[in-house]
Amino acid sequence: MAYASLYKWSLEDPNGFWMKAAEQIDWVSPPSKALFDEKEPFYEWFADGQVNACWNAVDRHVEAGRGKQIAIVHESPITHSSKGITYAELQARVASLAGALRAKGVEKGDRVIIYMPMIPEALEAMLACARLGAIHSVVFGGFAAHELAVRIDDCTPKAIIAASCGLEPSRVVHYKPLLDQAIEEASHKPDFCVIFQREQEVAKLIEGRDVAWHTFQYGVEPAECVPVEGNHPAYILYTSGTTGQPKGVVRATGGHLVALNWTMKAIYDIDAGDVFWAASDVGWVVGHSYICYGPLIAGATTIVYEGKPVGTPDAGAFWRVMQNHKVKTFFTAPTALRAIKREDPQGALIQDYNLRNLKALFLAGERADPDTIVWAQKNVGVPVIDHWWQTESGWAMAANPLGIEALPVKIGSPSLPMPGYDVRVLDEGGHQLEAGQLGAIAIKLPLPPGTLPTLWNAQDRFVKSYLTHFPGYYETGDAGYIDEDGYIYIMARTDDVINVAGHRLSTGAMEEVLASHEDVAECAVIGVTDALKGQSPLGFLCLNKGSNRAAEDVVKECVKLVREKIGPVADFKRACVVDRLPKTRSGKILRGTMVKIADGQEFKMPATIDDPAILDEIRVALEAVGYPRA
Ligand code: COA
Ligand code: AMP
Repeated sequence: MAYASLYKWSLEDPNGFWMKAAEQIDWVSPPSKALFDEKEPFYEWFADGQVNACWNAVDRHVEAGRGKQIAIVHESPITHSSKGITYAELQARVASLAGALRAKGVEKGDRVIIYMPMIPEALEAMLACARLGAIHSVVFGGFAAHELAVRIDDCTPKAIIAASCGLEPSRVVHYKPLLDQAIEEASHKPDFCVIFQREQEVAKLIEGRDVAWHTFQYGVEPAECVPVEGNHPAYILYTSGTTGQPKGVVRATGGHLVALNWTMKAIYDIDAGDVFWAASDVGWVVGHSYICYGPLIAGATTIVYEGKPVGTPDAGAFWRVMQNHKVKTFFTAPTALRAIKREDPQGALIQDYNLRNLKALFLAGERADPDTIVWAQKNVGVPVIDHWWQTESGWAMAANPLGIEALPVKIGSPSLPMPGYDVRVLDEGGHQLEAGQLGAIAIKLPLPPGTLPTLWNAQDRFVKSYLTHFPGYYETGDAGYIDEDGYIYIMARTDDVINVAGHRLSTGAMEEVLASHEDVAECAVIGVTDALKGQSPLGFLCLNKGSNRAAEDVVKECVKLVREKIGPVADFKRACVVDRLPKTRSGKILRGTMVKIADGQEFKMPATIDDPAILDEIRVALEAVGYPRA
């Protein structure tokens, strides 16, 4: 069936469409139907089926005779190593780890936090939880101890699984002290921590609390897969919202399995035995869906890459991995390609490698700028596919489904909506806009399987954040338009979320940290355009009346504070001290206008501005720190 008929079928007959897709999953007991809409607007999928995610990602492939196939490749230019783990080995390792967790009391429904770098053991930890029906929550390694503490208190884990260290090109990331600090700060205490000791750094274990990854598995009975209901949470993944409190996106097991399996063939054109590589991190949704679960559910080989696009050792790193492992479909963030393009503008290094197995390059995580797409099309010579999704959706809301039909590419658009996503553009009053008109992008409920059913411990926040502004719709937080051919264009966020190097960050969370500095009376953080990272955060600080501190000292302390509280990933490196912030008469800070001044764009004087003269002060302060950039 071609894309248009499939899409129509998915909206007209969601039960028929998704029950057909569900046939590709091994159920312990199959669901009676796909969509459970009795508790509208809280929709569920496959709620009465019984299933296990680890079985579908690992064991069933061994049963089907794929035991000797490589399941996970660990490609680590940072440690100069490359190794493979077969499906049979993965099954044994995961069953053993799950058995050890079970022996220490982890059961179905318990939460387990995973704080690990890009090593296969991170996937094994996720799969071991899935095997037991325990709910994992992976925390990205670039977050500081405080962010980990916030997540510990929110999901109250029985156990935390961590590595002794992570490795960034310029430094060793000492995970263990961060973990200890986070547990000390949090009110909730886990029963125990499992530490995977890496040879680059052996951490000191705390007696009575910490156990070593290998030793705690000695002599335990391997665990079998525990069946869970289709609506049982597979994991919680925290993402940035408007405030400092992250949102715990819940993923229900049944829909997650069915939808990801469907996407592997339909969107990425991947079959069992193919090699799929998503160059992201297990701490992000791309890592959950397309480093861990998606490729493994499909019986493909996945690549866990511990390195950067450039500098480990050079801008040819990606192409080398693709050649050496015969990658068929590759997925990364546009920022990674921009980093490569900056070092290798002519694509000379690409020519050094044989990329004949590569069939497509997918981009997501931020807006794909036309220059980067054209550069990749020209130099890599395969279709370059932009697709649009969020932590909340778990898979692409809009894409070009190569496994069904390669649609014409329109540069600047992530193409057409995927099955189950009834995407609309609405004005402030919730009225649908005409083709080409810019508005808020919303999706008519219900969302398809695999998307978030709620936020962990925060049903009210779920309703308020996503379902209230436009009743009957899910509000994506993105703004854009749909053209006359139905192609979607994502132009900006409608909230205070910014996107730095493909990482989703909250300016509100940074403002909360800055406001805690004793000399700061008021502050604002904006996302300014950055040629490499898409956006980068910039702070404005108003100091307390009578403060005699030197501005550069306060700025330095604030930069340090954000790094300590949120983490290096926030990339908060610049701020300027100003006397006042531009506001509307009702007191709303005019962040959008400040972004335009920093980016050197034309802007209209906001009609509601309290005192237009402040904008000149902002312009002067920005010029002093080098904005607008040339
Ligand atoms: N653990 C600890 N620290 C981390 C980390 C991790 N897992 N990941 C990043 N950091 C740190 C970096 O070391 C850096 O610290 P520094 O300020 O001391 O230099 C900071 O966080 C910012 O890192 P990063 O965003 O990686 O920027 P960079 O300047 O080091 O590299 C790019 C720039 C473009 C090469 C890099 O951002 C990149 O590869 N981006 C692709 C992102 C991506 O795949 N996103 C997934 C979305 S699909
Ligand atoms: P995250 O939840 O971290 O995956 O971030 C999701 C946000 O990233 C979306 O809401 C968009 O703002 C942005 N985003 C993701 N993919 C795209 C894309 N292809 N084009 C434009 N923006 C994107």
